[in-house]
Amino acid sequence: MSPTPHRTQVAIVGAGPAGLMLSHLLAGVGIDSVAVDLRSRREIEETHRAGILEQDSVDLLVDTGVSDRVHRDGYRHDGIELAFGGGSHRIDFEGLVGAATQLYPQTDVFIDLADARARDGGDVRFEVTDVEVDDLVSTTPVLRFTDAAGERHEVRADFLVGADGSRSLCRRQVPEAERRQYFREYPFAWFGILVEAPMSAPELIYSHSPRGFALISQRTETLQRMYFQCDPATDVADWSDDRIWEELQARVGANGYTLKEGPITSRTVLPFRSFVQEPMHHGRLVLAGDAAHTVPPTGAKGLNLALADVRVLAEELERAVAAGDPAPLARYGERALARVWKAQHFSYWMTTMLHTLPEASPFDLRRQEGELAAVTGSTAGSTYLAEAYTGWPGQR
Ligand code: DHB
Repeated sequence: MSPTPHRTQVAIVGAGPAGLMLSHLLAGVGIDSVAVDLRSRREIEETHRAGILEQDSVDLLVDTGVSDRVHRDGYRHDGIELAFGGGSHRIDFEGLVGAATQLYPQTDVFIDLADARARDGGDVRFEVTDVEVDDLVSTTPVLRFTDAAGERHEVRADFLVGADGSRSLCRRQVPEAERRQYFREYPFAWFGILVEAPMSAPELIYSHSPRGFALISQRTETLQRMYFQCDPATDVADWSDDRIWEELQARVGANGYTLKEGPITSRTVLPFRSFVQEPMHHGRLVLAGDAAHTVPPTGAKGLNLALADVRVLAEELERAVAAGDPAPLARYGERALARVWKAQHFSYWMTTMLHTLPEASPFDLRRQEGELAAVTGSTAGSTYLAEAYTGWPGQR
């Protein structure tokens, strides 16, 4: 049986935050799109990811009419704590750069976007299988997929977008001779937990200690998110609640904090990787979000970068659609990569400043404490961190 034919302006592979936000922004300027995802809506909603939004990400959700729930259910954070060497030092974002961040989990961003697309009649298909993209260097690239009911579809589009995450299929369609891939692996991972307990602190605590890094974050008044550095080969089954609390309390206790404990309802190991593929386009295919670049989680840049990508991509696609010409896609890549590489450096820097290497010597640990003291003890150092963490405000 031949597939059911469709025509759209932009076909999007991946209906996570990047794909859905792009489809929403395109709809706002009268451009049709179809977005597909291998996962079910429920599966995406239940995958815990980071929880910090830059001001520009908040504005994008609110100002484009996705939802203002972030203002009702989120928590504004005017700074973070950097804990090391037996004490804690606040980085005052508001005072240093006049900006703040918002604690609002990625899963909620996804729910708001999926609801907004459903409300506005957007064409989004979850649980598709056998996705193929083809004819990328022709004037009508094609997306093929089988929908959740088993029907095969063929969508011809003016442009194709790969917003299909860190295991991207689209990224692999760019011929090897035309792409460069930049990698860095790290010899550690994060053990992430969700805890039913009150908040242990009003803002995030990034804690360096000789036993390893720990991050104390929050979700709601009764649900908390915490992470601690672990070996990438860690099996969560080896970690009882008691063992987790002992390790977390020891790491933050070294810097004067005590955590409020409660039942642990979720435990996962998150890998660390820095990755960029350049260029971000090939023919009429463009990549956005994790499909083009991955950052280690320290500093929570992943979702914010994906949203920054699609804000620029929507503008350049509008030009490309109007002109019937893929030239603006190259301009998108140049604009997006300027931010991507700044965020790559920031995520790498936060990671290496705060985590202990498995073979760390006493010199290495004292040097890190020196670095942290230099950052927290200087207005210039703190301002660099505040600017990068809040997303380079005013530099769009
Ligand atoms: C969270 C995750 C991060 O990677 C980070 O740097 C800060 C907060 C979070 O999940 O809350």
